Amino acid sequence: MSAPFAGTLFDLAGHVAIVTGGSRGIGRAIAERLAQHGANVVLCARKEAAAREVCDMINDRDGGRAIAATTNITRAVELDGLVAAAEAAFGTIDILVANAGLHIHVGPSAEMSDAVLEKTLDGNFHALRRLSQRLLPGMIAQRWGRIINIGSVAAHFGSGIYHSYTLSKVMAMQYVRNIAVEHGEAGVRANTISPGLIATDMAKDLLDDPQALSAEMARSTVGRVGRPDEVAGLVVALASAAGGYVNGQTIAVDGGQTIRYVA
Ligand SMILES: NC(=O)c1ccc[n+]([C@@H]2O[C@H](COP(=O)([O-])OP(=O)(O)OC[C@H]3O[C@@H](n4cnc5c(N)ncnc54)[C@H](OP(=O)(O)O)[C@@H]3O)[C@@H](O)[C@H]2O)c1
Repeated sequence: MSAPFAGTLFDLAGHVAIVTGGSRGIGRAIAERLAQHGANVVLCARKEAAAREVCDMINDRDGGRAIAATTNITRAVELDGLVAAAEAAFGTIDILVANAGLHIHVGPSAEMSDAVLEKTLDGNFHALRRLSQRLLPGMIAQRWGRIINIGSVAAHFGSGIYHSYTLSKVMAMQYVRNIAVEHGEAGVRANTISPGLIATDMAKDLLDDPQALSAEMARSTVGRVGRPDEVAGLVVALASAAGGYVNGQTIAVDGGQTIRYVA
């Protein structure tokens, strides 16, 4: 007989999550929704005030508790500090949401400097890898863990102008697949969510450019830009019992733009 029909599939009480870039945009929605479903949350950003504000909001509500840890994810030593602060506050971290991302160069591949590529890899790939390496032993010891990488649908395509961004996102996506294979039997689930166009600060330039926006919308099947909560909902599902049989996948949350053929 299966487990009794009690509770919900999305209950995160007793779990602890790190959410990078949790002070605004997609990461903020993720932090708030994970806490709403019961997880204690450690959110990081470079600017302390905005991160603290999100924590205050979470701590004023029912659900999990939140703390902020000022961190630049491109610096390994600061990631160590983030994990130490998180463990000191809440114990074993069993959910990692690698959300913060860098998109710092748009232009021809010939103009992608070593420095740009290295910094982008630090933020979009090495932060995920470094945090995973720190957290996986704890997840494996308790035979339960979730690694959720926030990628981008941009990395599902070739691009003539998004070089460092897509390269770094593809590396992160493949890392997640490898971790899924390596540690699936130990109870770890590792997946990537690829957002399409979501209304946040990062997307502002595109949202403010009528021509670029209309090109994006031509591929959409729903005719609108996405909301941060529409990414957060899938994070909650993947982080909870609902996501127990999903491993190594890349799931687009993009209003269907990657399935549409545009003649
Ligand atoms: N919005 C979209 O349309 C879209 C589409 C595809 C993929 N994505 C991906 O979704 C993720 C979140 O993007 P978003 O649109 O929510 O961005 P956003 O609104 O610009 O928010 C970025 C968050 O990350 C933090 N952050 C940025 N750089 C950081 C660093 N070096 N160290 C620590 N924290 C840092 C920011 O806080 P501080 O500035 O204080 O550090 C903020 O909390 C990214 O990985 C992005 O590539 C977004």
